[in-house]
Amino acid sequence: MTTILHGNIIHTPAFGALETIPGGYLVLEDGVIQGIYPRLPEQYAACPVTDYGDGLIMPSFADLHLHAPQYPMLGMGMDLPLLDWLDTYTFRTEARFEDTDYARRVYRQLARDLITSGTTRVAMFSSRHTAATLILMEELEKAGVTGYVGKVNMDRNAGLSQETTEESISETLRWLDACHFDLVKPILTPRFTPSCTDELMAALGKLAQERDLPVQSHLSENTGEIAWVGELHPDCKQYWESYNKYGLWKDRTLMAHCVHSDAREQEAMAKAGVWAVHCAASNVNLCSGTAPVRELLNRGVQVALGSDIAGGDQLAMHKVVVMSIRASKIKQIETGAPFLTVPEAYYLGTVAGQRYFGGGEGFQPGHKLHAIVVDDREMPEPTRELTLSERFERAVYLMDKRCIKAVYSEGIQRV
Ligand code: GUN
Ligand code: FE
Repeated sequence: MTTILHGNIIHTPAFGALETIPGGYLVLEDGVIQGIYPRLPEQYAACPVTDYGDGLIMPSFADLHLHAPQYPMLGMGMDLPLLDWLDTYTFRTEARFEDTDYARRVYRQLARDLITSGTTRVAMFSSRHTAATLILMEELEKAGVTGYVGKVNMDRNAGLSQETTEESISETLRWLDACHFDLVKPILTPRFTPSCTDELMAALGKLAQERDLPVQSHLSENTGEIAWVGELHPDCKQYWESYNKYGLWKDRTLMAHCVHSDAREQEAMAKAGVWAVHCAASNVNLCSGTAPVRELLNRGVQVALGSDIAGGDQLAMHKVVVMSIRASKIKQIETGAPFLTVPEAYYLGTVAGQRYFGGGEGFQPGHKLHAIVVDDREMPEPTRELTLSERFERAVYLMDKRCIKAVYSEGIQRV
C-alpha cells in the first residue's frame, strides 16, 4: 500500500547536518520509505495524500535509557546523590511492581505518554518482576513503542528490590521464554556492578553470548559509585572492566551516563562498540556532573540520548535534547569543548537511536518511517517569515504534546 505525506520535511541525514524540503512529499510503500520529493512524481499522481499543510515532518525520538517503574516518582525526590537516592526512594518504588494491577495501570499510562510525546523507540529498564516486565512489553507494543525492555537483575545492595542469585537467573530465563512480541524485544539488564554478584554477572554474560542478547547497564555516573566499584572489584583498574570481565562489554552494549569516563574508558568503549547513553537532565538532577559528550564523539564512541526517568524528570525527549545542549554549553564554559548545535543534539535524540536499532540515517529510503508531525502555529508570532531551519530550532525548544499532530512508528500512524 502506498502512503504519501505532504508537508515541510526536516531531517538530520548525518550528525550535524540538517536537510529541509519545503512543501515536500514523503512516499511510503507498506510503511517503508521510498523517497522524499520536492514535487510529487507522476507515478504517484493517483495516490491519496495525507496533507499536513504547513506542518513540520521530523524524525521521531529514541529514548535509549529510562526506568519504567520509576514513572510514579517522576518529578520528586531529587535531593540526594545517586546511591542515597537509590536506597531512599528508588528501590522501594520499584518494589511496588510486584502488584500486577498497579503495573498495568502505570505502564499503560507510560506507553501512552511516550507515543503521544513522539518517542517511538526505547531501551528501557523494568523492575526485577517477570510478570510486570511482560505487562510493560505488552503495553508498549500495543501503543506502537518499539525497542528493548529488560527485566532488571539485582542480587545484592538493592534493599526491598533485591532478589536471590538463583531467583534472578531462573526468572530471567522464564522471562526470556515468555517474550513473544513483534516490536519489543528483550535486553539483559544487570542494574549496575554494585547490585550484581560476580556469580550473577557471569551467568548473564554467558546468557548474552549463548543467546546473542544485547546488554544495558550504568557506567561511571557518580564518583561515590565509581569508588564502590573499585572496592568490589580490586582487580579492575576501571569501572568498565567489571563488565568486561564477564562478557557484558560488547558490541551494542548500552552504558548509561559515562559522566566520569576518562580517555582510557572512552577508548575501551570505542574499541568494543559499546554505546554511551547521555542523560543530561538526570546528571544535573542527581548532581552527578556533565558528561564529556564531545570528547566521546571525537573518540569515535557512539552516543545516543536518554531521559533516565526518574533521575531525569522529563519524559518528553525534545526537552532532553534541549537539556543536552545546555549541559554541553556548561561543559564548554568549563573545558572549552564545543557545545552541541541544535541539529547535532536532535540527531543524538532521534537518528542515533534509530541507527542503534538498525534504522537508517534521517528519512533514509528502505527503512520503516519513524516520524512526528509538528504544528508550530500556536508558537509566538515571529517578526518576519522564518526559514525552515529557524522553525526547526524553535520547534525543538518549544514543542509540546499539543503541537505533535501525528506520530508514525514502524511505518504506521499511531497518533
Ligand atoms: N544506577 C543504578 N541504578 C540506577 C537508577 O535507577 N538510576 C540511575 N540514574 N542510576 C542508577
Ligand atoms: Fe538509569
